[in-house]
Amino acid sequence: MSTRVLSGVQPSGVKHLGNYFGAIRQHLELQDRFPGECFYFIADYHALTTVQDAEALRESVHELAVTYLALGLDPDKTLLFRQSDVPEVTELAWLLATVTGMGLLERAHSYKDKVGRGLPASVGLFTYPVLMAADILSYDATLVPVGKDQIQHVEMTQDMATHFNQTYGKGNSLLHRPEFRLSDAPYVTGTDGHKMSSSYGNTLPLFESGKKLKKLVGGIVTDSTELGQPLEAERCNVFALLRLFAAADELERIREHYRTGSRDGTAFGYGHAKLLLGAHIERHFEAARGRRDELLAHPERVEEVLRNSAVRARATARATLDRCKHACGLR
Ligand code: ADP
Ligand code: TRP
Repeated sequence: MSTRVLSGVQPSGVKHLGNYFGAIRQHLELQDRFPGECFYFIADYHALTTVQDAEALRESVHELAVTYLALGLDPDKTLLFRQSDVPEVTELAWLLATVTGMGLLERAHSYKDKVGRGLPASVGLFTYPVLMAADILSYDATLVPVGKDQIQHVEMTQDMATHFNQTYGKGNSLLHRPEFRLSDAPYVTGTDGHKMSSSYGNTLPLFESGKKLKKLVGGIVTDSTELGQPLEAERCNVFALLRLFAAADELERIREHYRTGSRDGTAFGYGHAKLLLGAHIERHFEAARGRRDELLAHPERVEEVLRNSAVRARATARATLDRCKHACGLR
């Protein structure tokens, strides 16, 4: 079976450098390795388990689509669609729910964590992994790139596929067991040195530039070593972020400035390192920022990509659903 890549992304808030280096960049690299076989969708049904503000949801779905397209998702090679535009998936989720034991879902870390953090324990939140399994299985995905927190959900998907095949397959594989792919993504630190996360208010949002970016980068926490004194690159939050952008030879030179506290005979301090980082971020996302502005001015282009992709995704999901319904005796 050839490789079919699938991943879903939650449309919560403006994406940041952690999301880019941790997830988005891998998704975009895969579209070049597996042209025509990458299915990416915006998990708006899953988002309803946490976001219940219609306008906010619509906006963040649009923002996420714009973000992927601006960063280089090529709609000629890759599908980008809204989860809710493929109703076959929720139908398959019901079929899967009927072969899924309560015990399997009760073991989900993500559910326990979310309820532990105070989210209401809705049925939707509890059955979240069943919908996620339907997402994956509807499109015969073989490879699911995810972050660590989602591995258990893919393993549950494998179990559901196996149960479904055992119950209804009569020796045939109705649903394909997928594998997860953990990206070798770097762990991106936020402005306070902890993991960059939209929940911690320590992010560097993608596409920020000019004064705003300067202010955010200026706010990265450093120690109080005086200008001109040697600095420890390995313990510096600014240097950790510079690693994501600078080439090896430039990084070596910067490391030397840190070690000696000087650059070309003049004092070097955290302020200089922050200027270098700000310039890198500006440059790295410059073309994407331009594309983003263009897309924001033409929301109909974004909508067209989402709709066209959904039509193609639906055809695959329909075939899977028909196969499964027939096997259950529904046709
Ligand atoms: P947030 O913590 O901001 O809510 P999400 O949990 O929605 O981010 O993460 C979306 C994707 O981005 C996941 O695949 C996750 O692994 C990746 N990601 C998020 N933050 C980071 C980070 N600081 N470093 C590396 N990857 C990250
Ligand atoms: N649960 C995933 C997350 O929060 C999003 C998601 C939904 C997903 N369906 C998926 C990821 C299917 C991979 C495959 O990040």
